[in-house]
Amino acid sequence: MTYDLLRSFGRRIRWGMVGGGIDSLIGEVHRLSARLDNRYELVAGAMSIDPDIAHETAAQSLIAPDRSYTDYREMAQREAAREDGIEVVTIATPPHLHAGIATLFMAQSIDVICEKPMTCTLAEAEQLRRTVQDSGRLFALTHCYSGYPMVREARARVRAGAIGKVRQIECDFVAGSFLVEEPERDKRHWRFRPEFMGKEAILGEIGTHTYHMANFVSDRLPVALSANMSILTPGRETYDDVQIVLKYADDVFGRMWLSFTAAGNEHGLGFRIHGTEGAVIWQQEQPETLVLQHADRPAERLTPGHPDRLTPEGMHACRLREGHPEGYVLAFANLYRDFADTYFAKALGAGHMPELGHFPTVEDGVNTMRFYEATAKSNDRSGAWIEL
Ligand SMILES: NC(=O)c1ccc[n+]([C@@H]2O[C@H](COP(=O)([O-])OP(=O)(O)OC[C@H]3O[C@@H](n4cnc5c(N)ncnc54)[C@H](O)[C@@H]3O)[C@@H](O)[C@H]2O)c1
Repeated sequence: MTYDLLRSFGRRIRWGMVGGGIDSLIGEVHRLSARLDNRYELVAGAMSIDPDIAHETAAQSLIAPDRSYTDYREMAQREAAREDGIEVVTIATPPHLHAGIATLFMAQSIDVICEKPMTCTLAEAEQLRRTVQDSGRLFALTHCYSGYPMVREARARVRAGAIGKVRQIECDFVAGSFLVEEPERDKRHWRFRPEFMGKEAILGEIGTHTYHMANFVSDRLPVALSANMSILTPGRETYDDVQIVLKYADDVFGRMWLSFTAAGNEHGLGFRIHGTEGAVIWQQEQPETLVLQHADRPAERLTPGHPDRLTPEGMHACRLREGHPEGYVLAFANLYRDFADTYFAKALGAGHMPELGHFPTVEDGVNTMRFYEATAKSNDRSGAWIEL
């Protein structure tokens, strides 16, 4: 890892958060990830819908009281008016707020790191893409699983032809963690209330991660899909199990299974991509191991931290020497680090630096929302093939 760009820039990025309070699932993961590489300083936030929790979260992060806000609109305006206002904001609210908040901050020349799903609809995603392009701001989408060293290694190997020509792409996210009896309607989390992301909310919650992962590693986008969605939990109003078949160009096929009801499973994200000469296989709960299978010889078990055994792309995402597990927060932090280094390079006029690595962009957000709408449409038409 290099600190050259940080040293040339001379200070940390002034960073703010909207959502992600201590009443949230994901907020603390963002704060841990941003702290890891010393590139951000959390100086402002409107971090909860509940004013007391917003202020308590800010106090725990040592944010000055006058920069702890209870309204993100006021935060955008007041931060933009300050000499030392924030330069980057993370949006970690429920999804129906993402597009509006991102647009508001970009209008104040503030770059954006946004949680997935990027928006609620494809139209909103396309509008947001125009806003990003017109404003020239940096925009990252936190499909955090693409930050794992062995996921980046898999992508690099597939790109380099290690499994031959890609033929079958399978990616699943089959969680058991939401296997609960549905509570009364007004006590349900927004994830399970159709008024926020529709009856198909599962596609935003885990489908966008899965779709992004399949595209990221296989380095291709499908051209059509056929989907069937079910509600397996009594009393639930949103789908909790999804089966999708995908077609790609050149006779490549894919399959995706998304579920909140896979009894016995914990998180359940993984992929298996086969080509004419082998396969790459990875499971998020054992993220240190990438299995590289060969048709003509025994499989290889690749692990992080070996500069002589991994590609530069895989090594770029490794921080520790071999045999020292890295895990979820370091993978998430890779997105924060790559975004910060891109920010520094842009500010320093260093031009495009491909070695800075990858973070998902607004383009990925448009693709995932296209997938979202096509899947819902196919399900409404009893699994009819829908073009993407
Ligand atoms: N990248 C990942 O792996 C990952 C994991 C979990 C959740 N997420 C995504 O992160 C987002 C948040 O999910 P979560 O599970 O943390 O949700 P959550 O319901 O647990 O937390 C939402 C947070 O947003 C705050 N909030 C709501 N309205 C707000 C407003 N108007 N102003 C300021 N703050 C507001 C809430 O108070 C809370 O702090 C979602 O888009 C979700 O899909 C991503």
